[in-house]
Amino acid sequence: MSLNSDQKKIYQYDTTFSPSSLSEIKKIFSSGQISIGNYQEKLKNQLEKITGCKYVFLTNSGTTGLHLALLAVGTSKNNNVIMPSYLCEEVLNAVKYTQAAPKFVDINSTNYSIDLQKARKSINKNTSAIIVPYQYGDLVDIKILKDSKIPVIEDICHCTGGKNSQKPLGSIGSIGMTSFNDRKFLDGGYGGAVFTNNIEYARKIKSLLSLSGNKKYKINYNYSTPNLASYIIHEKSKKLNHDIKQRRKIADYYFKSFQKSELTIRYESVKNSFFYRFMIDVPNDKHNFIKKMASLGIVCGIGVDFPLHKMYGSKENLPNTDLAVKNSVALPIRPNLSNSELRKISTAVKKSLYA
Ligand SMILES: Cc1ncc(COP(=O)(O)O)c(C=O)c1O
Repeated sequence: MSLNSDQKKIYQYDTTFSPSSLSEIKKIFSSGQISIGNYQEKLKNQLEKITGCKYVFLTNSGTTGLHLALLAVGTSKNNNVIMPSYLCEEVLNAVKYTQAAPKFVDINSTNYSIDLQKARKSINKNTSAIIVPYQYGDLVDIKILKDSKIPVIEDICHCTGGKNSQKPLGSIGSIGMTSFNDRKFLDGGYGGAVFTNNIEYARKIKSLLSLSGNKKYKINYNYSTPNLASYIIHEKSKKLNHDIKQRRKIADYYFKSFQKSELTIRYESVKNSFFYRFMIDVPNDKHNFIKKMASLGIVCGIGVDFPLHKMYGSKENLPNTDLAVKNSVALPIRPNLSNSELRKISTAVKKSLYA
């Protein structure tokens, strides 16, 4: 059953795929190129343009892309990796695959992304990398980390195709990665990529992905995106810019619509985010608000429901993270929302807040 099978409800994500692409999918099936084929190269070329990176490697998830990025910058068991706690568990998994320890820092009070001043202060001699996810697509300027000499891994899972001051996200730090899971801008079911302009990192990743063959055994990682998924992702990439514009239009509609409500919306302007999600801070009981919205046919997202530092059992004091967990709710912002659906959401928010 598709996520969107109940047409009366308004969902967060749209996982459907345009029927016009089905004839090419049939061809891929009949050519026997489900695993390996020319769409992998096409997708890589497309991602080079999107990310502004010379070296792109396809992976089977964002988690495995991040694992390779961490290994490429030399992360191992005696290291720590700086990362936010307001984040999904998969990122912590990638850090743990390398046996390094996470070092959690808070997010900003003005958006949902990592506080880079605090990240900078957390660096010590064992730090191997700083992971900077643009959470929900919210921009932060990683230039302030440049002179720290610590590799910065840009996690662009929530903003593939985005730019900061004309520079493609993913090409600003030392190395970048993204995900193509079924909730992301480029949804291929599962999949991911890791990319860089640094030739040393690229060589390392190439070697990590290659079998030893008949040379001396070394461990390698079987992490590729299949050709069929590459086709789907490549097809969706043609609409990426259009979809980002749509997301920003919807965000603008929400801003205007909720200006006079008692909601807190943590954005300076639509230019500071790519709106993977549109978050609102609900003043009282967010779970009750979500329930009321559901009864009006709107499926809201919960955001991060349990911060990683608490899950991991570490003792940092992260007040902005705690507040975001307590209050933040995601409204649907998928690019194909109609005007009447938007009006329905806006009315439902007001009713659920004040009823
Ligand atoms: C910010 C962020 N980073 C990494 C990941 C991991 O990606 P994947 O689910 O493809 O492993 C996700 C997944 O949802 C994510 O949202």
